[in-house]
Amino acid sequence: MAKTKILYTCTACGASHNKWAGQCSDCEAWNTLIESIAPKDTGPRFTGYAGASSIQNMADISLTAEPRHATGIGELDRVLGGGLVPGSVVLIGGDPGIGKSTLLTQTLATLGGQMNALYVTGEESLQQVTLRVRRLGLKDDSFRLLTETCVERILTLAEKEKPRVMVIDSIQTVHTELMQSAPGGVSQVRESAAQLVRYAKQTGTALFLVGHVTKEGTLAGPRVLEHMVDTVLYFEGDAGERYRMIRAVKNRFGAVNELGLFAMTEQGLKVVTNPSAIFLSRHDEPVAGSIITVTREGNRPLLIEVQALVDDSHTNNPRRVTLGLDQNRLSLLLAVLHRHGGIAMYDQDVFINIVGGVRVTETAADAAMLLACLSSFRNKPLPQKMIAFGEIGLAGEIRPVPNGQERLKEAAKHGFTHAVIPRDNLPKKHDAPEGMEIIAVKRVSELLDIH
Ligand code: TYD
Ligand code: MG
Repeated sequence: MAKTKILYTCTACGASHNKWAGQCSDCEAWNTLIESIAPKDTGPRFTGYAGASSIQNMADISLTAEPRHATGIGELDRVLGGGLVPGSVVLIGGDPGIGKSTLLTQTLATLGGQMNALYVTGEESLQQVTLRVRRLGLKDDSFRLLTETCVERILTLAEKEKPRVMVIDSIQTVHTELMQSAPGGVSQVRESAAQLVRYAKQTGTALFLVGHVTKEGTLAGPRVLEHMVDTVLYFEGDAGERYRMIRAVKNRFGAVNELGLFAMTEQGLKVVTNPSAIFLSRHDEPVAGSIITVTREGNRPLLIEVQALVDDSHTNNPRRVTLGLDQNRLSLLLAVLHRHGGIAMYDQDVFINIVGGVRVTETAADAAMLLACLSSFRNKPLPQKMIAFGEIGLAGEIRPVPNGQERLKEAAKHGFTHAVIPRDNLPKKHDAPEGMEIIAVKRVSELLDIH
């Protein structure tokens, strides 16, 4: 009998290695290699899903627009790029309790009115799902249920049921009979997902895969899934917060980084129709260390509050803590402030927080971050009706950001009267929003005079 071959699989990226090592040489994650048994080379394996192969002329390929189905949930349609595409596979990741099952239950209830829908659950009992549907006040005849974790049996039943949209909650609970390893392992998840993806492509079924996220914020194990699926959506925000955000991190049918906003209520997830100002905590009096910036996550401007706390440090290693922003960016900005503004914070702890649990990925928040730090450091509040945006470079320059005009307009709409912006974003006289006093800056040193 042939000896079973032992492989070492990385739980973060799914790469397999012949030898154990402390660090995965593919994704550079530490302590992620686990021992696994190499799959036997028998049975069908994932070989792509291109269908019958023949070489074609591009001129012969018809370009009828992908028909999309509105999910009935506006913010979900937005992150999907304008609705659900038949035959597409959408991976939805997020922490436990963030609302993945709730969102997909609501989605299926509306989609189920137009087409055959199937909810496959490997985590909850039929009673639990039904209870949720009743509690959300949804019609309980809009979609059908299945509790099953074996992917072969799921697909056999799906071939009979012929759903047009199917949810797998969650992909980590599904296993394939082709492999002996435990469910939830990288190879199990990858192989099961491959079978499901192939089924979706061959039958034109839209498929939602739910994936759990580890503490480090990556999908547990199957980062390999990201390249198999068409769209990857991540839930952001805290399970304890009222607002939940969904970000598209990959989308073959739409823009990435698009953000959908929801509020978790007694009746499930509700879309937030006018989200631009929901993250502002309104202080009665001006407070030191707080300023509003206008960020553009996806296709719309969002007003958010940046808070900083700068305090004497009592350790040799002053703390640099950020919530919702990149920590290295903060260190970089403080270095620029020292070198080009002459303000030293090496003996200070610096904490930065974005109110409401939003995560800001763009550099346009740089100027606001520094202004908030300065304000807290000097214990001097900035004017309450002031906003700031601008990217800061290592040479101490303040660079323009895209869509400056639109950001200014959004701030003016919400009653802000002062704006600190990069000089290159300065609008022409007649384009500036009325009643907005604009402070155009070119160098970091000019930020020191703003108060
Ligand atoms: P759930 O959707 O099951 O999260 P996930 O599938 O991502 O693990 O549950 C989300 C949380 O939301 C849960 O703690 C209960 C809460 N919740 C509400 O506040 N209102 C509701 O209407 C529902 C259904 C859940
Ligand atoms: Mg769930």
